[in-house]
Amino acid sequence: LTGRTTRRWVLARYVEGAPGPEDFRLEEAPLPDLEDGRFLARVILASVDPGIRSRLSAGDSYAAAMKIGEGVDGFNVAEVIESRHPNYAVGELICAGGGWREHIVSDGRGYIQKITDRRVELGCWIGVLGVPGLTAWFGLNRVGQAKPGETLLVTSAAGPVGATAGHLGKALGMRVVGVAGGEAKCAWLLGEEGFDAAIDYKASHDLTAAIHAACPDGVDVLFDNVGNEMIDRVLPMMRMRGRIVVSGQVADYNLRPDQIPGIHNTKPFITHRVRMEGLVVFDDIRNFAAAQAAMADMIVLGSLKYAIEEFQGIEQMPEAFCGLFRGENFGRRLVRLAPDPVA
Ligand SMILES: NC(=O)c1ccc[n+]([C@@H]2O[C@H](COP(=O)([O-])OP(=O)(O)OC[C@H]3O[C@@H](n4cnc5c(N)ncnc54)[C@H](OP(=O)(O)O)[C@@H]3O)[C@@H](O)[C@H]2O)c1
Repeated sequence: LTGRTTRRWVLARYVEGAPGPEDFRLEEAPLPDLEDGRFLARVILASVDPGIRSRLSAGDSYAAAMKIGEGVDGFNVAEVIESRHPNYAVGELICAGGGWREHIVSDGRGYIQKITDRRVELGCWIGVLGVPGLTAWFGLNRVGQAKPGETLLVTSAAGPVGATAGHLGKALGMRVVGVAGGEAKCAWLLGEEGFDAAIDYKASHDLTAAIHAACPDGVDVLFDNVGNEMIDRVLPMMRMRGRIVVSGQVADYNLRPDQIPGIHNTKPFITHRVRMEGLVVFDDIRNFAAAQAAMADMIVLGSLKYAIEEFQGIEQMPEAFCGLFRGENFGRRLVRLAPDPVA
């Protein structure tokens, strides 16, 4: 390995408000010689995830704030290219949480999963079968206790978590309503994605009335990716024993703590026995393999769709990430760093 270098993106400064490319810096460093008990993997695909935004500002959220100069988090599909580790062989494919980087050097600890099922494209393993899809699966099934015939309202419905939650709801026999920004996203949800109704929150003059109209009998499960303002708006529409799945807070991530809206409409927690619960998907890690096998089968059978938007080259990572907060993505954004190995 001597003489070879590798690149990674690090946090250049703490982010205030919406993130911009200047908040990140691309660093190049020599690849170290591989020690015993480690392997080296070449990253093929890397993801950009809105949830990391909460670690990019000073002050801790549910995860500790990053340090300036620390590598940016994300998920990877990678190929083992050198190994001095007994459990990893050259040529094996893994998904891992290595971040925005060209190479991963690992002792095998942390989140690493071997990819053995090649029936689906590799990007699925950090998309619909990775953290976003698993968040949808465990959010809907374990936290949301979703049932056939119920009404599911999904926010940020054209993102990878939301779209997967919607598909899983449809496959279960639910009535699925999505909220998304813009006419194109809503047309996509109604057309290709097969949602029963879609609400463009950016065009709606009265969003509460629009949700009422799309969910005339109320909402059994709110799968929320957006944040407090939306939860507060939908709470009075929750049906008896309704469940609110707090998946993400993308509308609140760029706000200072004192700017984040509060939740006021708390009465339905009593009158309608509404339950609200958040999740951290890794709590369900022991059940990942079973969920992934079930979802991979659904993909192969055509009952679970997904969308991937692929960017080319490590240079594109900040731009791909920052666009998430401008509502640019349809489905999962991945950045390709190397071609797929031949199967
Ligand atoms: N709990 C967990 O373990 C877990 C795991 C993974 C992800 N998550 C969370 O799940 C949520 C969805 O993740 P994802 O990967 O599928 O990303 P995503 O929903 O695609 O996030 C980007 C989208 O968010 C929407 N958005 C951006 N700014 C917004 C704003 N100010 N108000 C309303 N919507 C806004 C935009 O869609 P529109 O154009 O429709 O506005 C944008 O395209 C995120 O909040 C993420 O943090 C949670």
